[in-house]
Amino acid sequence: MLQLAYGILTQGPPAWVPDALRDPWRNMTVIAVMVVLLLLKRYFNGFLNPAERDMHGRVVMITGGTSGIGAAVAKDLARRGAQLVLLTRLPPSNPFLADYIGQLRQETRNTMIYAEQVDLTSLHSIRQFATRWIDNAPPRRLDMLILCADTLTPPGQKRVKTEEGIEETWMVNYLANFHLLGILSPALRAQPFDRDVRVIIPTCSSYIGAPPLSEELDKKKWNPSKAYARSKLAMLVFGQAYQKHLDAYKRPDGLPMTSRVIFVDPGLCRTPGMRRWLSRGSIWGLVCYVAFYAVPWFFLKSAEMGAQSILYAVLDTSLVRGPGGQLIKECQMVDFARMDIKDEAIAKKLWEASDKLIVQTEKEQAALRNLEKKAEEAREKDKKDAAQAEEIDELVQTIKKGKEAEKKSTSRRKNKK
Ligand SMILES: NC(=O)c1ccc[n+]([C@@H]2O[C@H](COP(=O)([O-])OP(=O)(O)OC[C@H]3O[C@@H](n4cnc5c(N)ncnc54)[C@H](OP(=O)(O)O)[C@@H]3O)[C@@H](O)[C@H]2O)c1
Repeated sequence: MLQLAYGILTQGPPAWVPDALRDPWRNMTVIAVMVVLLLLKRYFNGFLNPAERDMHGRVVMITGGTSGIGAAVAKDLARRGAQLVLLTRLPPSNPFLADYIGQLRQETRNTMIYAEQVDLTSLHSIRQFATRWIDNAPPRRLDMLILCADTLTPPGQKRVKTEEGIEETWMVNYLANFHLLGILSPALRAQPFDRDVRVIIPTCSSYIGAPPLSEELDKKKWNPSKAYARSKLAMLVFGQAYQKHLDAYKRPDGLPMTSRVIFVDPGLCRTPGMRRWLSRGSIWGLVCYVAFYAVPWFFLKSAEMGAQSILYAVLDTSLVRGPGGQLIKECQMVDFARMDIKDEAIAKKLWEASDKLIVQTEKEQAALRNLEKKAEEAREKDKKDAAQAEEIDELVQTIKKGKEAEKKSTSRRKNKK
């Protein structure tokens, strides 16, 4: 190899090199461009997580652990031996989910991976799961809660409401987490002092351009980007307030609370959610995405690289010493780009409004479920009554037939006589 390089330098390229590759300036330019592209790709890929920590025996609850960044985080933590509880909208009996978990267990040689059905578009589903979780005595071990699930309506598509009547982006990206963390709060606070409990909230720099939370995002002003950015801003404001809520808890043992809320900006990544957004949720968009895949491949991170900052937030042991409510980007602490995130008055208003919306929606839904139950009971009763009437009718017919047969046989006997 060295001989070849020396030969090229002293005598020029060998005879077999085509003429097109003999121009040294052109070759230098090509090499320089390639080096620049390589460096840019490295830059866009972001930083690798440098932290290490033993995860064996730690219980990690994760939403959105079935795709994108969440799936990459789940896989890494499973490899490290953590016990994973995946909150998924599909029931564990679903064949696709069962396959996914089976494969994850096999690939990571970790059998401690479970799924629990929690549909984040439904307050009722969240309540059912979370109350079951906290109903355990003694309290179950819970080391970490990673909230990776989210939804992003592709541009140009319509505003969608959940079955419970709440705008979907607000519900999945913010209110579901508010509800889940609210109910699981006793479970987090009941963990022993030395457990280093972390609530990890992935966020997105789109929050910087979000309209202020004091402004209602009504149907007229709504668009997918605003709705997404606003839900991310709300999560940041609520996360700060939740940290204060945890800090304010007086532990029975008198020791300080060590639970931390940590925000993470994973950077732009090639995930199913991002693909849906870039392709505007259409077949043609998807065709374009595949045809020009080199562009997202170059500028966006893989889900695995996006997971690095979240893994840093999970694994870095020094984070337990600092205050909660910090933002991590590219595996290092950064400042928030908005002042209103730490505004207590805004947080209070948001908390109260969210509580009110949940109480009102849950009441309405409970009344609806009651009505449905009653209607179902009435339908069942009608069915039973109809079956009973049919049975009586059949009995009457049989008796009638019996009597007629008896009459005929007595009249035949009389005729014979
Ligand atoms: N991708 C990026 O470029 C980027 C940039 C900045 C921040 N982030 C943040 O990183 C996190 C992960 O993003 P991602 O792009 O990896 O997401 P993604 O690929 O779109 O995956 C979203 C996950 O959320 C789950 N989910 C959606 N609706 C649900 C529901 N109703 N109930 C239960 N689960 C539900 C999905 O479950 P199914 O598998 O069942 O669909 C899926 O596992 C998000 O918080 C996002 O805001 C991402």
